[in-house]
Amino acid sequence: MDNIYYPREAVITDIKEETPTIKTFRFELNEPLAFKAGQFMQLTVPGIGEAPFTPSSHPGKVGEMEITILRAGRVTDVLHNEVKVGDKLGLRGPFGKGYPLDKFKDREVLIVGGGVGLAPLRSLIYALFDHIEDFSKVSICYGAKTPEDQCFTDEYNKWKGMPKTTLNLTIDKPHPDWKGTVGLIPCLLEEEKLDVDIKKSYAVSCGPEIMLKFVTFKLLEVGFKPEQIYLSMNRRMSCGLGKCGRCNIGPYYLCKDGPDMCYADIKDYPNVFG
Ligand SMILES: Cc1cc2nc3c(=O)[nH]c(=O)nc-3n(C[C@H](O)[C@H](O)[C@H](O)COP(=O)(O)OP(=O)(O)OC[C@H]3O[C@@H](n4cnc5c(N)ncnc54)[C@H](O)[C@@H]3O)c2cc1C
Ligand code: FES
Repeated sequence: MDNIYYPREAVITDIKEETPTIKTFRFELNEPLAFKAGQFMQLTVPGIGEAPFTPSSHPGKVGEMEITILRAGRVTDVLHNEVKVGDKLGLRGPFGKGYPLDKFKDREVLIVGGGVGLAPLRSLIYALFDHIEDFSKVSICYGAKTPEDQCFTDEYNKWKGMPKTTLNLTIDKPHPDWKGTVGLIPCLLEEEKLDVDIKKSYAVSCGPEIMLKFVTFKLLEVGFKPEQIYLSMNRRMSCGLGKCGRCNIGPYYLCKDGPDMCYADIKDYPNVFG
């Protein structure tokens, strides 16, 4: 596919309801498409519009792709309410750099997700699991509003069963069906709960901007340095190519230089957390 503005055909083969507001769409691609965990796609719904999403699927599967989508507005409403298995949509990309997996080698990786933010991180989790021998440890922390707002619940036992891997979950408020941790995501990062060797770790976080802000402050408080923190800056984007100027933080275009940015690179610019 030479023309980056031209979407390739993607046929929906499965739609899975993760939560009342989040669905995972599986696409079959008419030609192989390689992407790195963390890179994003522009998804076109013909006649409606285009929106950016980071695949949630295994980056090694080049003939199909999964994208996990929160219902948020015009394009995502149509995806949730009208699109069905067999429909043909369009995909442009991949865009952005993806997570710096080489940097994470021989280190512990602390993954912190909130809500639908676990979707891009799921692709990273699969990439780490593929070469788990290269990493010292994978600690996954995930928070959702309620138990029924948690994504990918049917995979948690498999994740917990992986070598060198832990999974810690929290929900925002007490709930009759929940016996685990209650509190906003930073509560999982309290020093006494965090079983990681901070000096040898990288932290990667994806979720709503307000969550990224408080997760970052907590990570700094417990001893992470800005150089050890990567944030998925999923701001509104348009071209995805560093041309329209819609997505910049200081000199960086999040679509081209990110969307996963090292906090050390962006922390001194005024609009980091919106
Ligand atoms: C690189 C990148 C990766 C993303 N990955 C995912 C993903 O994996 N899953 C997922 O569900 N969403 C993801 N998003 C967010 C997704 O792109 C938006 O939810 C989507 O564009 C909304 O489109 P819409 O037409 O349905 O909503 P619109 O009608 O355009 O907007 C509805 C409301 O959402 C707000 N909004 C729209 N886009 C964003 C945004 N990016 N950030 C904050 N507020 C926004 C608008 O201001 C408005 O209030 C990602 C965004 C980026 C930039
Ligand atoms: S989306 Fe156009 S410059 Fe980033």
